Amino acid sequence: MSVDSRTRAAEGAGTGSSNVLETRAIGAALERMDGRAKVTGTAPYACEHRVERPAYLYPVQSTIARGHVRAIDTGAAARVEGVIAVITHWTAPRLSFDENKELWVLQSNEIHFRGQFVAAVVADTLETARYAADLIRVEYEAATRDVGFRADRADLYAPKAVNAGYPTDTDEGEAEAEFGAAEIRMDATYSTPMEHNHPMEPHSTIALWEAEKLTLYDSTQSAHSVRKAVATTLGLRPEQVRVISPYVGGGFGSKGEPHAHNILAALAALRAPGRAVKLALTRQQMFTLAGHRTPTIQRFRLGASRDGRLKSIIHEVVEQTSRFKEFAEQTAVPTRLMYAAPSRRTRHRLAALDVPKPSWMRAPGETPGMFAGEVAMDELAVLCGLDPIELRIRNEPAVEPGSGKPWGNRHLVDCLREGARRFGWGQRDPQPGRRLEGVWLFGTGVASSTYPRYVLLGSRASIRADEDGRYLVRIGAADLGTGTWTTLTQIAADALGCTPALIRLEIGDTDLPNATVAGGSSGISSWGWAIVAAAQEFRRLHGSRPRPGAEASAETPKEAGDETFAQHSFGAQFAEVRVNTETGEVRLSRMLGMFSVGRVINPRLARSQLIGGMTMGLSMALHEESVMDERLGQIVNHDFAGYHIATHADVANLDAQWLEEVDHRSTPMGSRGIGEIGIVGTAAAVANAVYHATGKRIRELPITPDKLLA
Ligand code: MOS
Repeated sequence: MSVDSRTRAAEGAGTGSSNVLETRAIGAALERMDGRAKVTGTAPYACEHRVERPAYLYPVQSTIARGHVRAIDTGAAARVEGVIAVITHWTAPRLSFDENKELWVLQSNEIHFRGQFVAAVVADTLETARYAADLIRVEYEAATRDVGFRADRADLYAPKAVNAGYPTDTDEGEAEAEFGAAEIRMDATYSTPMEHNHPMEPHSTIALWEAEKLTLYDSTQSAHSVRKAVATTLGLRPEQVRVISPYVGGGFGSKGEPHAHNILAALAALRAPGRAVKLALTRQQMFTLAGHRTPTIQRFRLGASRDGRLKSIIHEVVEQTSRFKEFAEQTAVPTRLMYAAPSRRTRHRLAALDVPKPSWMRAPGETPGMFAGEVAMDELAVLCGLDPIELRIRNEPAVEPGSGKPWGNRHLVDCLREGARRFGWGQRDPQPGRRLEGVWLFGTGVASSTYPRYVLLGSRASIRADEDGRYLVRIGAADLGTGTWTTLTQIAADALGCTPALIRLEIGDTDLPNATVAGGSSGISSWGWAIVAAAQEFRRLHGSRPRPGAEASAETPKEAGDETFAQHSFGAQFAEVRVNTETGEVRLSRMLGMFSVGRVINPRLARSQLIGGMTMGLSMALHEESVMDERLGQIVNHDFAGYHIATHADVANLDAQWLEEVDHRSTPMGSRGIGEIGIVGTAAAVANAVYHATGKRIRELPITPDKLLA
């Protein structure tokens, strides 16, 4: 029996028919619907929307990390010809509601991090605004800053919960005692650096007031979330704010919620009546104003019997938050479900620092957490003298650890076995450091991937039959470049029983029905389910031969939140690297990701999502690191000369494949989200391959030549 047919057999049965969509368009490798518009430059990104009488905003950022503004001299800036407005915390319009401190812009003289907005200039041209901003003189009263991220700080604290509402700590059994008594003990500390999201399109917005109504052309993963937060902060009703974002040039989580620049643009536009105020952050500004991935220090302990059966798993994480607003990443959460063990302990502790608020970056939590966990498993395999795949298979849990829930769709072992076969794992010499070709040492490594299946409630889709026989399908969803335009069209076509050519889709606008965020890999699952529900409602009301003008709408149904089964995606990543024995340079030779993600809606786009995630993971393994200068409280390598991201030359033979699988427990389409799982485990696979090549275990990312030569 093949892996594929086993998988089908496992999930074919046991689900209600209302939750199953007949598929024709789903599964087709359609080209991107927005492809032509993108390559011909006619798909407008936020700042490219045509507006009348645009004006340009340039911000002034604090040069201290903590303290107060004492004085600001704006005289010279205000006198520059072409300057429309200069705003500071003295002159900015008052905001209404400070629930979200990150959005409490120019309301007081307090400084929480270096790079915070302290003033802004609006002018007729960007050059004028920037020049005038440079003339503004700010005097500060600096307080002692504290940006030192260390695991031995006395003031580490336990947050009430970590992101997505998970418990901060978990304890099952006597993990410390079991560890102490174990025949084999693996105890190591891993670290991952601060990283910054850098989507191709910088964070940008155009703010335009017309009477009491604010329009934002914004680069966002959620038009409706931006509307809600901006309306609340400004003291407006949601209907007074419209957010338009049909095309978005990437986000990776950093556009999942509005940031201070959205509010700054709206405030500045109030002082520039009749003008559409454009603000696009520069790359350097994005290092302080668009969130970052928290650095982590993670102690991992694994106790096992000599034959590799886990007795104890202990994962203790230290990470950072900003002092002014808490962000508690869920780093140890994947450790709670990956492998079977009679005892387990997980901990999250935060260092509250004078830094910008950390934020989401592709698979927040799973990405750094699974780096530590999957290198730890590799280290344990070495200690037990076991193949790392065999070690994982021996610790496969029958039900979800902790919750005891049955697995909805766990195919980790299938991914490991089938991936191993396709990658050619079988010929691997178990001893490290054996394969020398010229000056290059070659090695291979493996790591598991996982990501939860999230479906968010609250999206609504509407459908209308038009005169020309087509259907208008409307939902305020976002396409970050991921392919939403195309995949939602495919889902709508199957839901309505027509070809994709008969679907006219509208997304990316708060004038459309409410949509949840393109985050947590939940977008297509949540919005697609709303479209399927709306199509069912449409059929119920209008039959299969609707008259033009017939309409219906529906929300993602409550049953989408069903938590009877433990629902997660899994994968296995295989990497081959070569390490230069003279320079310490690491090159990735090839990588294969084998995934279990439910039915794939569009293979062309899915492959692109998965290898995109893997590329970001290899970038994390070898290149990315934001370096904090503790004397200044600023990222010293805050540009693309100093912050290295994998480029074409680094991306070798990368392939993503998946099990043929239909998961109607997760969604009516049979699919689960795929935006994030591709990055999870990649860095561990690369690090494990580096160990296999060299015999050197690097536990601090990124794996740079100096660490290998040391
Ligand atoms: Mo993703 S980091 O959940 O937007």
